[in-house]
Amino acid sequence: MLHLLEPTDPRWVEAVAVDTDGLLTDHAHCELKAAQSALSIVARFGGEAPELVEPLSALAREETQHFRQVHEHIEARGGALGKPAVDEYVQLLRKAARADHGDAPALLDRLLVSALIEARSCERFKLLAERLPDPKLADFYRALMMAEARHFTLFAGLAEARFGAAARERLRLLATREASVAHTLPLGPTVHG
Ligand SMILES: [Fe+2]
Ligand SMILES: [Fe+2]
Repeated sequence: MLHLLEPTDPRWVEAVAVDTDGLLTDHAHCELKAAQSALSIVARFGGEAPELVEPLSALAREETQHFRQVHEHIEARGGALGKPAVDEYVQLLRKAARADHGDAPALLDRLLVSALIEARSCERFKLLAERLPDPKLADFYRALMMAEARHFTLFAGLAEARFGAAARERLRLLATREASVAHTLPLGPTVHG
């Protein structure tokens, strides 16, 4: 699915199902981080790659809107937003990408790592849409799953428009690393754990 080489361990959904509140807090922070990451790409690369400014600013706005929606679900369940945790998956993936970057431009890796994070989120939201017992939450994750598929296409498309065949080749390589990172992490009630 969307260039992912390994499916999520089905036991992940079980870990999430027993701590939906924990998942929602982690998810809320993932949306904020997605918005921040899009804006940081704009800040760092907007000068050399002005074609990124419009779509990634719009993406940051959409991710912020997702954050607000997740926050509404948290409040509706009588909870409050917890503190952000370190997203080990994202950290390991960024590190794995830059470990041997060679000639791969930093911008290419930023776009492709973002694409893979969107792809993995899409895959996991699909599992949540199919398996969560709360029908409202299941519907919510179904809608978000489609947004994440769109975001994967956006990042992969921006990378390809700028870097051509090198982007496709690098995506294949980074997907192998993503698969091993996704499998080394313990299963927990987090979007990427
Ligand atoms: Fe989002
Ligand atoms: Fe997204």
